[in-house]
Amino acid sequence: MLHLAVRAEPGSDFADAVLAGLAAPQKVVPARFFYDMAGSELFEAITRQPEYYPTRTEIGILACHAPDIAAAVGPGRAVVEFGSGSSLKTPPFLKAVAASAYVPIDISAEFLDMAARDLAAKLPDLPVFPLAADFTRPMALPAGIAARLKLGFFPGSTLGNMGPAAAVDLLRTFGDTLGDGEPLVIGLDLRKDAATLEAAYDDAAGVTAAFNLNLLERINRDLDATIDPTAFAHHAPFNADLGRIEMHLRAVRDTTFTVLGHRFVMATGETIHTENSYKWTLVEARLLARAAGWTPVAVWTDPAEMFAVHLWRREAARLEP
Ligand code: TRP
Repeated sequence: MLHLAVRAEPGSDFADAVLAGLAAPQKVVPARFFYDMAGSELFEAITRQPEYYPTRTEIGILACHAPDIAAAVGPGRAVVEFGSGSSLKTPPFLKAVAASAYVPIDISAEFLDMAARDLAAKLPDLPVFPLAADFTRPMALPAGIAARLKLGFFPGSTLGNMGPAAAVDLLRTFGDTLGDGEPLVIGLDLRKDAATLEAAYDDAAGVTAAFNLNLLERINRDLDATIDPTAFAHHAPFNADLGRIEMHLRAVRDTTFTVLGHRFVMATGETIHTENSYKWTLVEARLLARAAGWTPVAVWTDPAEMFAVHLWRREAARLEP
């Protein structure tokens, strides 16, 4: 007898990751668990903070240079956006590159629905093929765009939330999905002075701090935990050796708690590492592209060189003996 596939017990992935992460010498909780309802709303609010320059800077670069991108890749491509989220920066981009179709890919079916509805209002004639998928895994694109040329779109410096090895793997996967010779437009935050970076990830209004601390509330709620959030503070230093902002939850006093009946003890100053945001110089970004099977074609920055939008092209497969 055949049964329908069911999802593993909800939250079990979360439970396993949190219990394993809190048992490690450097405690860690994977960043993908930030995005419950409250977390997603706080994230949107982060992008509007005056210190958080990446979102508005990238939107400005795209607004300024979309015609250059269109000229470089030609009109009429199917735009494939990896991790489309709520897709606010996408409609003007689709218009500027004269997209013939749009494939938003997001793990959240809810976000996909929102984005599709928003787009139907703004660009009623554009065929949209939403794909609910984990973009870190290889995937088949919808049959409806098989015959079209593609243009990958990966804004938001989302690649920066991965380390170099994972970034190379992901970029190879994107290349396999899009096909040889196809272009990718990718936004990457630039390396800059520590003070500017640290302010961006610790805004004065405390929104990024609330976003980070919300993870503890979620653990309390979903994993029957007893964490006292007031025993923790948001800590977001720039690690210059590794070229990344790190986000931690730092114990401001000795504290003890349980998660699903497991007991954890943290001393003052000990941290839970929750996120990284790598900052790539222009040269590093080009090397990253090459390492992952892409050829750098062009790059655009804002006048202050805060953020970069790169255009790469997937190398053709080499014939080997
Ligand atoms: N990728 C963006 C960045 O690194 C947005 C982002 C992801 C972010 N996770 C975050 C911003 C956590 C602040 C905090 O900047």
